Amino acid sequence: MFAVYAAEPNPDNPLDALRVGERPEPDVPDGWVAVSVRAASLNMHDLWTLRGVGIKAEQFPMILGCDGAGVLADGTEVVLHGVIGDPSFGDETLDPKRTLLTEKHQGTFADTVIVPEGNVLPKPAGLSFAEAACMGTAWLTAFRMLFSRSEMRPGQTMLVQGASGGVSTALIALGKAAGMRVWVTGRSEEKRALAMSLGADETFESGERLPKRVDAVFETVGKATWGHSMRSVKPGGTIVVSGSTSGPDANADLQRLFFNQIRVIGSMMGNHRELADLLAFCELKGIRPHIGAEHAMTDADKGFEQMLAGDTAGKIVFTL
Ligand SMILES: NC(=O)c1ccc[n+]([C@@H]2O[C@H](COP(=O)([O-])OP(=O)(O)OC[C@H]3O[C@@H](n4cnc5c(N)ncnc54)[C@H](OP(=O)(O)O)[C@@H]3O)[C@@H](O)[C@H]2O)c1
Repeated sequence: MFAVYAAEPNPDNPLDALRVGERPEPDVPDGWVAVSVRAASLNMHDLWTLRGVGIKAEQFPMILGCDGAGVLADGTEVVLHGVIGDPSFGDETLDPKRTLLTEKHQGTFADTVIVPEGNVLPKPAGLSFAEAACMGTAWLTAFRMLFSRSEMRPGQTMLVQGASGGVSTALIALGKAAGMRVWVTGRSEEKRALAMSLGADETFESGERLPKRVDAVFETVGKATWGHSMRSVKPGGTIVVSGSTSGPDANADLQRLFFNQIRVIGSMMGNHRELADLLAFCELKGIRPHIGAEHAMTDADKGFEQMLAGDTAGKIVFTL
C-alpha cells in the first residue's frame, strides 16, 4: 500500500530519512480495526521520529503520522485516537507501557492504518476529514493542557508561547472559546496577525515584557522561551509544558520557582474521554481547526519542509 515512512533514524538531516513509497498491507489482529485513511496531520513528533528520538532503532522502517480521520470497512467515519495504552490505569496516558502511533505501531500516513477498536471515535458530521485529522494530537494536547492540567478559570489570562504552530493555534482557539484572556507570543508580525485572527486578545514579540503577569503559561517551545515563561507567570501561577521544540535543557531558574511558588505541570496528549469531550466542545462552540497548509499525501515532503523551516500557519494536513 501507499505510505509515507521513515527509513532509518537521521538525527542531523531528518528529511533524508523520509520516503514516499510502498509498505506492506497490515494484518488486522483480533480486537483491532483497519481504517481507510482520508486525512492525517503532520506533527513535530514526525520530525522527532525521522531524527530517531522517542523510537528504538529496530522499529524502522516506520510509517509516520500520529493522528488522522478515515472510514471503517462498514462505512463509519471515524477520528483516530493515537495513544495506545491500557485504560485500566484510569487514564491510558499514565500506563507506563503506553505508546503513540509511530513509536511501536505503524502510523497514519498510509492508505490503511490499524488501531485497537477502542481507538476510534465517530467523526462529527460538521468537520471535514482534514479538520477531523487535526484533533487526535495537537488539539487533544492543547485540550488537556488547558482543561485538565492548568486549573484556569474563565476570565483569567493565559500566555501561549508560539503563535502559528499546531498546539499553539489550538490553545488560542480553545482558550478564547472557554472565556480566557488569550495573550500570545509570535516570532513575526505575520504569525502574530494569525494569532489575532484566531481569537488572541493581544500579541507580543518573543521575549517581550508583558503588561502584567499571567495566571498560566502554555509552553511547547522550551529553551528559547522558558526564561520568559518563568518571568511572565504570576506568583502561585502555573506553567503547563507539553513540548520543547527549541531544546529541553532550559535553565530551571529554581530560585524564582520556589520564591514565586510557581507550579510547573507536564502534559502528554490526552485520553479517549478527553478526545470525545474535545470533539463535543468544538461542535458545541462551532470551532474548526485552522489549517495552514493542505497537501496531497503524495506531496508530504512539502509539508515536512515547511515544518522544519518553522514555516507554519496552523496545522499542516495531508489528504488521500
Ligand atoms: N506532549 C505531547 O503530548 C505533545 C503533543 C503535540 C506536540 N508536542 C510538542 O509540542 C511542540 C510543538 O508541536 P507542534 O506540532 O505544534 O509544532 P509546530 O506546529 O511546528 O509549532 C512550533 C511552534 O513552536 C514555536 N517555536 C519554535 N521554535 C521557536 C523559537 N526558537 N522561539 C519561539 N518560538 C518557537 C513556533 O512559534 P511561531 O509561531 O512564533 O513560529 C510554533 O508556534 C513540539 O515540541 C512537539 O513535540 C507534544
